[in-house]
Amino acid sequence: MDQQKLKFNQQNNMKNLILLVTIGSTLFACSPKTSEVVKLQRTTIMTPSADLAQGFELYQSNCGGCHELKNELDYSKEQWQVILPKMAKEAHLDAKQEKSISNYVYWRINQK
Ligand code: HEC
Repeated sequence: MDQQKLKFNQQNNMKNLILLVTIGSTLFACSPKTSEVVKLQRTTIMTPSADLAQGFELYQSNCGGCHELKNELDYSKEQWQVILPKMAKEAHLDAKQEKSISNYVYWRINQK
């Protein structure tokens, strides 16, 4: 488990590096290119159910367009409870997608 966490952090650092390199050209854009870069750098994680896997998928495809894909573990559940409804609006998610992403995020931070 610790090793998995380490791997996650390493890849996250790598992601930040690559974002630094690309940030010059994509500073103001919610461009698909940015989220593609983020997506490619994202770790594959094992989820115990298809629902959570779908939440993870939605998280990656909806939450990295405007800013870098945030590390779920950087925020507490209490913080996410404030952030997620706000960001769901930003990302124009429907209620089902929001629920799916929330379930995933809460599951993920419980793995800490
Ligand atoms: C349309 C653009 C946009 C989309 C899409 C978007 N965000 Fe954000 N996000 C922002 C902006 C702008 C901020 C910084 C201002 C703020 O905190 O309101 C932000 C800030 C954040 C923060 C930091 C909040 C804090 O208090 O430090 C987190 C975490 C976050 N977003 C997560 C997400 C997640 C998860 C999704 C997907 C559901 C998402 N964002 C989708 C625009 C977006």
